Amino acid sequence: MIGIFDSGLGGLTVLRELVLRFPDASFVYLGDHANVPYGNRSSDEIVELTRRGVEALFKRGAKLVLLGCNTATAVAARRLQRVWLPDAGWPGHNILGIVAPTVEAATQTPWSVTKPLYPQKYMTDTIAVFGTTRTITSGVYIEEIRKRCPRMRIVQQASANLAGAIEDEAPESELDALVAEAVAGIVAQTGGVQPHRAILGCTHFPLVEHLFRAHLAPSTRILSQPEVVAYSLEDYLERKPHYADCDVAGLVALLTTGDADEISARARVFWPDAPAFSSARS
Ligand code: DGL
Repeated sequence: MIGIFDSGLGGLTVLRELVLRFPDASFVYLGDHANVPYGNRSSDEIVELTRRGVEALFKRGAKLVLLGCNTATAVAARRLQRVWLPDAGWPGHNILGIVAPTVEAATQTPWSVTKPLYPQKYMTDTIAVFGTTRTITSGVYIEEIRKRCPRMRIVQQASANLAGAIEDEAPESELDALVAEAVAGIVAQTGGVQPHRAILGCTHFPLVEHLFRAHLAPSTRILSQPEVVAYSLEDYLERKPHYADCDVAGLVALLTTGDADEISARARVFWPDAPAFSSARS
C-alpha cells in the first residue's frame, strides 16, 4: 500500500492521477486539515507535522509515503529521509518527495545528474515557479533547476494566501484576484515578458489551473505536476515493485485530521468520485 500525505486537499490532485495510473495499487491518503495551511509555518513545525503524518501512514500499513505537498517536500523531505527515518524503527519503509520529478520534467534531466547535459545547457526558456511562501523561500526549485540548466531563467512567486483560500473554498473572484496577483508578480520580474513555462509548485494550485491559464499567456505551457509525479512513481515502482504490494487491489482510503464529513463534501466539488474521508484519529 502506498501512502500520500498533504497538509489538506491539494495532494488529492496527485492521488487522483495515481489512481488512474495504478488501478491495481492500494492507496491511503492523509490530509492534515487540522493544521492546514503549512505554507507560512516555521520549518520546524512543517518537519514535525510531516513526520507525524508520515508515521500515521506507516502505522496504517503504507511502506512508501509520497509527500503530495511541495511545502513538506521542500522543507521536510530531506531531514526526514536522512535524519529521522534511519533511526525511526521503520525498516523497509521509505519517503519520496515531489520536487525531484518536477525538476526532472522541467529540465529533461534525471535527478541523479546534477550538471548540465547536452543539449540542456542550451535551454534558455524562462520558467515561472508558483508556490507557497515556504516552498519559494526554500529556493529548492531555483537551486535544482539551475544546476541542470544554468542558462534557463527561473522566476518565482510566493502566494501566501492562495492554498488557504482554495482549502476554504473562497469565492471564485477572490481566487482569481490571488492568481492574478501571483502572475503579475512574475511578469514584474521579467520586465513584462510572460514565461515560456510554468510550474504550479503547490498541489493545491491545479485546482485553480483554469485561473492560471486565464492570466498566463496562451503560449505559456503549464507543467502538470500530478502527471509527472505519476510518471516518476511508475518508474520507481518498476525498480522497487514491493512498495506497491497490497492485500486488496484498488483500495483507496482517505483520512483527515479534520472533520471527515466536511472534508468529503469539499473534495467532491472537484473529484466527484472521491471516496468518503474517515477521521485519522479513529
Ligand atoms: N499543497 C501544499 C503544497 O504543495 C501545501 C499548501 C499549504 O498547506 O500551504 O505546497
